[in-house]
Amino acid sequence: MHSIFVTRALPGDFLSKFGSAYSVKVYPYDRNITKDELLTYVKDCSGLISMLSDPIDEDVLAAGKNLKVVANYAVGFNNIDVAAATARGIAVVNTPDVLTEASADLAWALLLATSRRILEGDAMTRDGKFRGWAPELLLGMPVYGQTLGIIGAGRIGRAVARRAKGFGMRILYHNRSRLAAEVEEELGMTYVGLEELLTESDFITLHCPLTPETKHLIGAAELAKMKPTAVLINTARGPVVDEAALLKALRNKEIFGAGLDVYEREPLLTPGLADLPNVVLTPHIASADVRTRLAMVDMVVEDVIAVLEGHRPSNLVNPEVWERRKGDE
Ligand code: DGY
Repeated sequence: MHSIFVTRALPGDFLSKFGSAYSVKVYPYDRNITKDELLTYVKDCSGLISMLSDPIDEDVLAAGKNLKVVANYAVGFNNIDVAAATARGIAVVNTPDVLTEASADLAWALLLATSRRILEGDAMTRDGKFRGWAPELLLGMPVYGQTLGIIGAGRIGRAVARRAKGFGMRILYHNRSRLAAEVEEELGMTYVGLEELLTESDFITLHCPLTPETKHLIGAAELAKMKPTAVLINTARGPVVDEAALLKALRNKEIFGAGLDVYEREPLLTPGLADLPNVVLTPHIASADVRTRLAMVDMVVEDVIAVLEGHRPSNLVNPEVWERRKGDE
């Protein structure tokens, strides 16, 4: 019997997706599991389904003596020490593709909400402060026909670009590697250096993974290069932005606004951020639509079962593990 541990209850009837050959234990509390708890629960399991908030580090991997697979219920896997998992022959899988459109939708929701001051308008209306139409009431930044700068042109970045075409935007992008010419042409995306993207864009949206190279990619110097009318959107990972520097830039109106779904010390916010009117804050919900979250359940369950039954999983982050396993057979 394979033993699986899930660090948080998942949506839908996910337990029924495991057959009788599996004993599945779910963390019983509606909160993030602590490291000590994780070290205890991981001891007996061969499969672990983790959340993006769970640090799956060397200690946890070492404690999981029978661990064969860690399935992250997220596309990002910066919470997992993949090199340590690979060294121990543990497969790491994630949930790419299925959350692309939902994440692009949320980036756009933040872009529109921030530039058109939707939350300020909502609060004013609810508070009974809407005293009738006025020529200068809540003037925002135009969206249609403006320049969008996309940092990170993976699946989500490209899905954001597809939506931007409908808004008649000029689309600049910056990425580790340049896209194929056909893709650039199809999406109307122009490759530029980071500096040009920062200075030219009206909206800058982040879609890169968190790595040592992208930590604080946007700091005080980069914010200073942006237009005073620019809007920054972050649905990638909090530490890509130096949150203290962003707070300062927003406070001093060095940029027009920011829409954030992720935070540097999640779930904590830099003190003062929540008091600013020119920032829209959501609680890391980019993939949170019903269809997407159910599809993510299917993906992690299928891949955990695949690994434990000796098949190559569909979304393997560390293929070296599989190659080594096959070589040993
Ligand atoms: C992920 O899955 O990595 C995203 O951050 C979800 O919002």
